[in-house]
Amino acid sequence: MKFFIDTANLDQIREAHDFGVLDGVTTNPSLMAKEGISGQTNIQQHYVDICNIVDGDVSAEVIATDFDGIVHEGERLAGLAPNIVVKVPMIKDGVKALKHFSDKGIKTNCTLIFSAGQALLAAKAGATYVSPFIGRLDDISTDGLSLISEIRTIFDNYKGLKTEILAASIRHTMHIIDCAKIGADVMTGPLASITGLLKHPLTDIGLKQFLADHAKASGQPV
Ligand code: G3P
Repeated sequence: MKFFIDTANLDQIREAHDFGVLDGVTTNPSLMAKEGISGQTNIQQHYVDICNIVDGDVSAEVIATDFDGIVHEGERLAGLAPNIVVKVPMIKDGVKALKHFSDKGIKTNCTLIFSAGQALLAAKAGATYVSPFIGRLDDISTDGLSLISEIRTIFDNYKGLKTEILAASIRHTMHIIDCAKIGADVMTGPLASITGLLKHPLTDIGLKQFLADHAKASGQPV
């Protein structure tokens, strides 16, 4: 399973990258706004800065919602760095744009996926990734993980289908573990959800004991 970080915060991206387990980055307009990034030039420069940290895929979301606008903006974003993936919303013109980008060899991530039918449609249009938002489904008392399972089952029926399932809107470590059990190809979540995988009290207790025993055997004060 590939690990992406879902943020536009450069410090967190650097930290996850230095941790050694990062395969890519996803952003969205809300995450860019959270970092105070606005204006076309600043937004583009921010994507370049992210791509200078990470070699793996970096999803950059278009703001346009009409076909010509999505294509224009997406091609400009794709030209910023070789690892940019154009993130396109699940709307009719977005699906048309996915096909256009796919034909041109530009990688895409279809975002705001909330049903298996939407995922199938995006895959048909040649999306590189589909992003089902599991946390937001959980938020409205709908099982987000069931959607990941449903899409996995459908995609596995068609071996030629290359679209990867990118489990998005991950909120905590159990989402990551459950998505890995189901076989999601990628997960994208906040830094805390990734570093949270480190934690187990028995690891802490065990390490403390090992170090204390070593110190005792070496005649050092514990
Ligand atoms: O980037 C898309 C997705 O991961 C958003 O997550 O937490 O805003 O629902 P969230």
